[in-house]
Amino acid sequence: MRKSNEKIKRVLSGITPSGETLHLGNYAGAVKPQFDLLEKGVESYYFVADLHALTTIQNRDLLEKYIMNNVFDYIALGLDPDKGIYFRQSDVPEHSMLAIVLANYIPFGLANRMHAFKDKLAKGVAKENINMGLFNYPILMAADILLYKPDGVPVGEDQRQHVEFARETARNFNKVHGKTFPVPQVLVQKGDFGRVIGTDGQRKMSKSLGNIISIFDDEEIIRKQIMGSYTDPNRKHADDPGRVEGNPIFIYHDIVNDDKSEVEDLKRRYREGKVGDVEVKQRLFEAHKRKFAEARRRRKELENDINLAKKILKIGAEKARVVAQKTMKEVYEVIGITNKLSIGV
Ligand code: ADP
Ligand code: TRP
Repeated sequence: MRKSNEKIKRVLSGITPSGETLHLGNYAGAVKPQFDLLEKGVESYYFVADLHALTTIQNRDLLEKYIMNNVFDYIALGLDPDKGIYFRQSDVPEHSMLAIVLANYIPFGLANRMHAFKDKLAKGVAKENINMGLFNYPILMAADILLYKPDGVPVGEDQRQHVEFARETARNFNKVHGKTFPVPQVLVQKGDFGRVIGTDGQRKMSKSLGNIISIFDDEEIIRKQIMGSYTDPNRKHADDPGRVEGNPIFIYHDIVNDDKSEVEDLKRRYREGKVGDVEVKQRLFEAHKRKFAEARRRRKELENDINLAKKILKIGAEKARVVAQKTMKEVYEVIGITNKLSIGV
């Protein structure tokens, strides 16, 4: 964990466009902390990891739809392209170039222990049939990170292992070639927000698990997601004292409800058995609407303004490439790919 005296000056993070829309887990664990850093003036690089999506999305139209969703979501939620550098991974070819180099500094055993890969094995997929993109996923992610030499990588708990992998890769490379890459800190939210629990009350909230509360879906869908959420299973009647700690519905209140006195009042009454689950959920739905009304309005506007999104990504990629090319040049020089036979510089 980060020591408080170590100043974070530059951060980087990505999101894989592998599903329909962002959910409260993404928001509390990744997007909000990222935007907070940006607002604090930390130099920030955020990108849509479209090359990473290829491990699961191998359909042109679907991929395009998910990429656009991701871009619209981020911009609508308030990513200010004048403050942060926001781009699309594939627009900066140095990500792929560095991944090829870094693969040589990563032992097979380390890659073999990564959870994305192990999860597939656990689901019964034969090793022989797992695509190499999935095996290489953390290698590309290490390249994404090290290319920008960030001090910190703000992500949710589930990505910690991948960032640790990038740290290990940096150390391995530095051992051979001298200090080239700073070793970045993993920046994960403490408490419930680093791994927001899903509406099933058991697993982490995740697109692929169908246990989400989304941000941009139709209101009716969001209402159903909220009303169907798990709460305190031991509470049979509204006048039974209920448990607030670890109760998904109160974690969601803490994320979306800016009316903190309402949240405190609901928690107190819940503990005392003086408020029913239905009311707590209805208030959550209202708070969700208040919190995201403006973002939802902006997102609708953006959907009709592809050119604005394109322009933001273009400017972002141009700025990102300046840093990416500089690192790539340095790497090629230290490893010896730039040598007496090189053409040009
Ligand atoms: P998903 O699991 O829904 O596919 P992603 O893998 O696209 O989510 O995650 C995008 C970002 O959001 C990552 O930084 C990830 O760590 C974070 N994140 C995802 N789910 C959660 C969660 N339930 N709680 C906190 N952070 C999360
Ligand atoms: N693997 C991350 C996710 O699924 C996305 C990602 C790709 C990323 N490259 C990254 C996150 C680099 C942080 C840094 O959400």
